[in-house]
Amino acid sequence: MLHFVTTNPGKVREARDYLGDDVRQFDYDYAEIQSDDLADIAARGAREAREAAPGDDPVIVDDSGLFVDALDGFPGPYSSYVHERLGIERVQELVAAEDDHGAAFETVVAYADGDGVETFTGRAEGTIVSPRGDGGFGYDPIFEYGGTTFAEMTSEEKNDVSHRGAALAKLADWLDTRSR
Ligand code: IMP
Repeated sequence: MLHFVTTNPGKVREARDYLGDDVRQFDYDYAEIQSDDLADIAARGAREAREAAPGDDPVIVDDSGLFVDALDGFPGPYSSYVHERLGIERVQELVAAEDDHGAAFETVVAYADGDGVETFTGRAEGTIVSPRGDGGFGYDPIFEYGGTTFAEMTSEEKNDVSHRGAALAKLADWLDTRSR
């Protein structure tokens, strides 16, 4: 069993596409350190969650951020706080006032087992647009990739091009190589 430490069932669905049905949601609230580095945040969380996970099972923690080019990477590691405080419409309005609407999503997936912690990074580049679509979660309705927002894509379509999909694919390859 592989425990995905998250309160977000959307992320678990995405992870199962790469890692199979062995992935279980583990609703554990780890202390999130304050850092500008997503990898530090995810790795620390994974170490702590592994101690709390049932048995000897490995855990994964992911930390993501939306980095807006015209805002020097804001909100980045603070995306969750900004999402709660401002909401996606106000973030979109902030970006609409700038000339450059480019942005990137980044995810770091940290995997922890008895041997330690490994981190895997994924990135997706797109544009901030007025909200469209009702799939996905978080900033998906305002993040457009190749003419379609993440919220207009199915989970499979989003995985194929998304930051989390890229990080999960790297983890899946690494697990595959290690088990040979
Ligand atoms: P967290 O690190 O997963 O907590 O994500 C930080 C913020 O980014 C939260 O507000 C999430 O809703 C949002 N977020 C994370 N991943 C995605 C995604 O794939 N699409 C849209 N928003 C996301």
